[in-house]
Amino acid sequence: MTDLIDFHNHVLPAVDDGSKSLEMSLSMLRHAADQGITDVVNTVHYQHPKVETDDISYDRIFDETKKLQLSLDNASIPITIHVGAEVFFLPNLMDLVDCKLATIGNGKYMLIEFLPHYIPESQKKVLFNLKMAGITPIIAHPERYRDVQQNIDMVRDWLRAGCLIQIDAGSILGQLGSKAEATSHEILKLQLCQLIGSDAHDNHRRNFCLADAIEYCKSTIDEKFANEIITNAKKVISGIDISPEFGDEPYDGNTSLWSKLSSRLNLG
Ligand SMILES: [Fe+2]
Repeated sequence: MTDLIDFHNHVLPAVDDGSKSLEMSLSMLRHAADQGITDVVNTVHYQHPKVETDDISYDRIFDETKKLQLSLDNASIPITIHVGAEVFFLPNLMDLVDCKLATIGNGKYMLIEFLPHYIPESQKKVLFNLKMAGITPIIAHPERYRDVQQNIDMVRDWLRAGCLIQIDAGSILGQLGSKAEATSHEILKLQLCQLIGSDAHDNHRRNFCLADAIEYCKSTIDEKFANEIITNAKKVISGIDISPEFGDEPYDGNTSLWSKLSSRLNLG
């Protein structure tokens, strides 16, 4: 069994729309440990309309994480929990660069989600500014966004802009609808994805299912690609650079400013 890291899930009890109770969290994490998952970064929804009235502060999440770790240790479940967030896209992301909760991997990465039916034009400039400030945006589950389902080129645009792409394990396994499933398979086939997260929310339909998704990559793409997905998750929580190689199309005159700058400045 390979050691795995899951850096996208909502396993902390009763802080967002994820796990409802400590019992549910422990059940989810037992299931995670059975798959070889050793480290879990809880990514609480941050500034999302669905947590508008909740206290999503670093201090509270840190305390809740400590409590869950204690319960895990008492139950002899061999997993380490880390603090993190899934940041809802608003034009204010540059205000969050020093927020301890909003970034992962010592401030190196920010996991960013959009509404399924609306990706604002302003995201291009905001993500570029984040990248220039030394934070690599990780686009959460693009296969679940309507615009991407209609045109996969949007994924290439994000990669050209220096972002990384994270697919939900549940999409790959067909648990999040046929469109998300088909789009995730296309992204994988084109090898436009660097990361897979479980995005686990409960111990039923949306549980940790990382090992099965990695297995899918091994059997339908190849072992090397699957191993890179595993290694990249380790790099994210350690704050190490990831330089994606992806099948880009020939230059079409629309190469992003980030691509031009990074090649000129020799940046990764
Ligand atoms: Fe999520």
